[in-house]
Amino acid sequence: MDQQQPILVIDDDLRMRQLLRDTLAGAGITTELCTDGRAGAERLGQQKFDVVLTDLKMPFFDGIEILEKALHTNPDCMVVLVTGYATIESAVEATKKGAYDYVQKPFEPDDLLLTVQRAMEHARLRRENRRLRQQVEGCRGEELVGESPQIKHLKDLIAQVAPFSTTTLINGETGTGKELVAKLIHQWSQRHKQPFLPINCGALPENLLESELFGHVKGAFTGADQDKPGLFETVNGGTLFLDEIDSMTMGFQVKLLRVLQEGTFIKVGGREHCQVDVRVIAASSRPLSEEVEAGRFRRDLFYRLNVVSLEIPPLRRRTQDIPLLAHNFVAKYSAKYGKQIPNIPAPVMAILNNYSWPGNVRELENAVERAVIFCPDGELLPGHLPALAAEEQRGATVPENDTDSLSIEEMEKNMIIKALQRAEGHRGMTAQLLGISPVSLWRKIKKYEISM
Ligand SMILES: Nc1ncnc2c1ncn2[C@@H]1O[C@H](COP(=O)(O)OP(=O)(O)OP(=O)(O)O)[C@@H](O)[C@H]1O
Ligand SMILES: [Mg+2]
Repeated sequence: MDQQQPILVIDDDLRMRQLLRDTLAGAGITTELCTDGRAGAERLGQQKFDVVLTDLKMPFFDGIEILEKALHTNPDCMVVLVTGYATIESAVEATKKGAYDYVQKPFEPDDLLLTVQRAMEHARLRRENRRLRQQVEGCRGEELVGESPQIKHLKDLIAQVAPFSTTTLINGETGTGKELVAKLIHQWSQRHKQPFLPINCGALPENLLESELFGHVKGAFTGADQDKPGLFETVNGGTLFLDEIDSMTMGFQVKLLRVLQEGTFIKVGGREHCQVDVRVIAASSRPLSEEVEAGRFRRDLFYRLNVVSLEIPPLRRRTQDIPLLAHNFVAKYSAKYGKQIPNIPAPVMAILNNYSWPGNVRELENAVERAVIFCPDGELLPGHLPALAAEEQRGATVPENDTDSLSIEEMEKNMIIKALQRAEGHRGMTAQLLGISPVSLWRKIKKYEISM
């Protein structure tokens, strides 16, 4: 617990203020004193307090108003009311409005201390809970989802390499999760409190990449009117993720090799060697060994990067992960877009499972996000997966060339007509085929004016 944070004491009676302060000080608890409700309300507006000890009857603002103000600025604030016999009922009322407790005057010092210490402990637990909840929520997006043996193996490898600052090379097709894996390595390492910075080497020409990574000195080139630190400096102590390393020019590869071998670099236009401690994780969507064989990538740099290499298999080679990933993305995007989507109906899952996912997890994530957006009433339909549904529909009743220009609604209508034909007009069976409720089917039949 933050021992430094004082307890806010609000009382218009000087002797009572002093008594409260001295009693608490005896137990090493620091206080900040306010002479009336108005001053107290002002302080509450300026700073979050964990515990507030307030008189009930005061001019301007009474204890109830202080309670409201305190809870408004900090819902986790523990407010303890100090009350005389005459106002005990109001104090009891106040606990129903969210006050933590009350102390009746005259009080035994030990009773006051006990109540305040309990309030402090309570506030600490609340804060801890909130922190953990945020951590879990924050983690959710960064989790490596998958139950296939390949993903389990990958997770084991990440856990093994994370603690060591070795250079790591991640290979995998586009969208397989290379950046996610790099982030996890960083998060599971001792550097996790330091920055993690991704940079796409393919996005910048050599000279810009150099000044971006190493920085430049004043006057290094036209427009360099002051020194600028590079990413290696900014990220010092942390991890730099060099994405699309295969697109780095041979000239620049030499400079990168020096940083990796010696931990030093020279700024653009500078002469001094700068020393840094940066963990480098590189990624390539083309097999780097093949680039080496083709003479486009330096062998020495490859060996240096390849101290540890992780291979992320494409999604089509671990289709077992599709359902879990899809469920995760449905949960993620239905929360984001405020929709209630309790499950993924079998026909939708069948499409997801049978598609080859050339864009891997990213493509799956995007498809699910679109489906969630287009899903009007909480029930996912194959037609909500436009591009994939079009794939599935090829060769069916809808002419191939037309599918691309169909709207979501038209596709949905087509799906329903096809299902109705298959179920020979039986609505219950049609609803089952589509994975929606009979009521929802009935509404859609009316909406699309489908004749039966
Ligand atoms: N196993 C996984 N579990 C959960 N989310 C994943 C997984 N793999 C990838 N993703 C998500 O898919 C998206 C693409 O992943 P990422 O950007 O890491 O891929 P990449 O391999 O770096 O792609 P590119 O080569 O195109 O840069 C991200 O939103 C990422 O969070
Ligand atoms: Mg990437």
